[in-house]
Amino acid sequence: MANSTDSPPQTVPDRQQWSGQFGFIISAIGSAVGLGNIWRFPGVAYENGGGAFMIPYLVALITAGIPILFLDYALGHRFRGSAPLAFRRLAGRAGRWAESIGWFQVMICFFIAIYYAAILAWAASYFVFSFDQRWGDDTAGFLVGEYLLTDGVTGGLAAPVAGVLIPLAIIWVVAIIVMALGVKRGVELANTIAIPVLVLAFGVLVVRSLFLPGAADGLNALFTPNFSALVKPGVWVAAYAQIFFSLSIAFGIMLTYSSYRKRRSNLTSPGLVVAFANSSFEIMAGLGVFSILGFMAHENGQTMAELGSAEAIKGVGLSFMTFPKVVSQMPASAVFGTLFFGSLLLAGFTSLISILQVISGALQDKFGLTEAKAALWMGGPVALISLVCFGTKAGLPNLDVVDKYTNEVGIVLSAVVMMAITMWVYRKGREVSAHLSVLSTFKVGRIWRFLVGVVSPVVLAGMLIATVAESFAEPYGDYSWTLLGVAGWGSVIACAVGAIAMIYVPWQRDPLAFEPYPSLAELRGVKLK
Ligand code: ALA
Repeated sequence: MANSTDSPPQTVPDRQQWSGQFGFIISAIGSAVGLGNIWRFPGVAYENGGGAFMIPYLVALITAGIPILFLDYALGHRFRGSAPLAFRRLAGRAGRWAESIGWFQVMICFFIAIYYAAILAWAASYFVFSFDQRWGDDTAGFLVGEYLLTDGVTGGLAAPVAGVLIPLAIIWVVAIIVMALGVKRGVELANTIAIPVLVLAFGVLVVRSLFLPGAADGLNALFTPNFSALVKPGVWVAAYAQIFFSLSIAFGIMLTYSSYRKRRSNLTSPGLVVAFANSSFEIMAGLGVFSILGFMAHENGQTMAELGSAEAIKGVGLSFMTFPKVVSQMPASAVFGTLFFGSLLLAGFTSLISILQVISGALQDKFGLTEAKAALWMGGPVALISLVCFGTKAGLPNLDVVDKYTNEVGIVLSAVVMMAITMWVYRKGREVSAHLSVLSTFKVGRIWRFLVGVVSPVVLAGMLIATVAESFAEPYGDYSWTLLGVAGWGSVIACAVGAIAMIYVPWQRDPLAFEPYPSLAELRGVKLK
C-alpha cells in the first residue's frame, strides 16, 4: 500500500493548485473566520444560554462540524472537482442527478454572496465614519435614517442608496479581480496578506477591551450559564447553524478549496487546525465584544441586563448600532472604530472570495473556462443582482430575510442531502474514510462514518422539519408574508430549480474521464478502524 500511493497517476490533467499546505490552511482559515465569528457568534451565544451555549456549541462542533468538514475535504480531494463535478464523479455513470446537490450548493453561495458583500460595504463605510464618529449619539437613527435610508421601507425593490452602492461596487470590483487571478495568485495571496493583519488588529482590539472598566461584568453576562436554555430545541438549532456557517461547511466551500490540494495531501490534520483556529477566533470575538459591552454598561451606569434587547447585541444591531455608540465613548475612539470595522472588513472579504470560488470553480469545471473568464462571467451578473437587491433602501430587510432562509433552511437541507447521497444512496462511506485515512496522519473510521452516516443526518433532518414548521406557524421578524415568501422561500426554491436545471446543461469535457487517487483497488487493501 505504502508504495502504491507514492506516485500519483500522471494521466489526469491537474487543476489549479495551492502553493502548498500553508497556502491551503491559511485560505481555509480565511474562509472560516468571517462575519459569522465577529458579527454573529457573540450575540447568538448570549441569546441562547450564555455560558451554557458552549455545550450545544461543542456538541455541534464535534458531532457535525468536524465530521462534515472532513467529508467536504474528502469529496473535493478524492473527486477533484468543485461541488457539481465532485458529486457527478461520486455517483458515476448511473447517477447524473447527483450533480444537482452540487449545483444546489453553488446556488446557496450565490444567495449568500449577494448579501454578504453588502454587509462588507456597510463595514467599509463605517471604517471611514470611525475617523469622525459621524454617527453621533443616536446610532440606530443614523443607521436606518441617514445611512441605509431604510426607515419605513419593508423590503423588495426600492430606490438606490449611493452611500451603499459605491462601497458595494468597489468591493465587487476587488473581489472579481482576486477571483480572476486564480487560486494561487489571487485567493491564496489575498489570504496570506489579510489574515496576519486581521489577527494582529483583532488581537489588539480584544486585549485592549479586556482591560476596560466594566469588562468583567460583560464577560460575566456572556459566560454565566443559563442551563435551562438547553432544553429549548431552538438553542440547539442555533448552535448547529452557527457551526455550519462559521466553519464554511456543507455549502461547497471547503469541498471546492480541497479540490485544489495536491494529490498527496494530509487532509484531516489541517482540518483540525482550521476548526481549532475558527473556534478560537469565535471565542476571542465573544471576549472582545462582551468586554466592550460591559464597558458601555459601566459608562452609562447600567447593568448588562439593562443594556438593551438581544437585538442590540446581535448581528446588524451589534455591529452597526451598539458598537458605534461604544466607540464614541472610548478613549482613542478613531483607533478603536477602525480596528473593529477594519477587522470585520478583512474577515468578511476573505470569506466572500471563498464563497465566490464555489461558483467560479463550478463554472470553470462545467464550461472549461479559465479563471479570468469564469470570474467575469460570474462576477458581472452576481454583482449587478447584489447592487439591485441590497444597494437600495430595502437592503436591510431583504438581507435579513435571505440570510435567515439560506442558512437555516438551505444550508441544513444541503448538509442532509449531501450526507444521504454519499453514505446511503451511493454507499461511499468506506471509500471516503479510507481516502481520508490513507493520506492523513489523523485517521478516521467507524465513529466518523457513524456520525456522518447516522447521527448528523438524523439530527439535522429533525431540526430542519422543526424550523420549517416554525416558519409557517409564525412569520419571522415583523416581515410580511409576501417578503418571506418571495425573498425567503423564493431563494430556497430558486436554489432547487437552478440545481435541477443545471444538470441538463452539457459538460464541456467528459466529467467521468478521471482516475481517483489512491485508486479503489488501493483503498480496498486498507484496514479501516
Ligand atoms: N465562514 C464564513 C463566516 O463565518 C462564511 O462568515
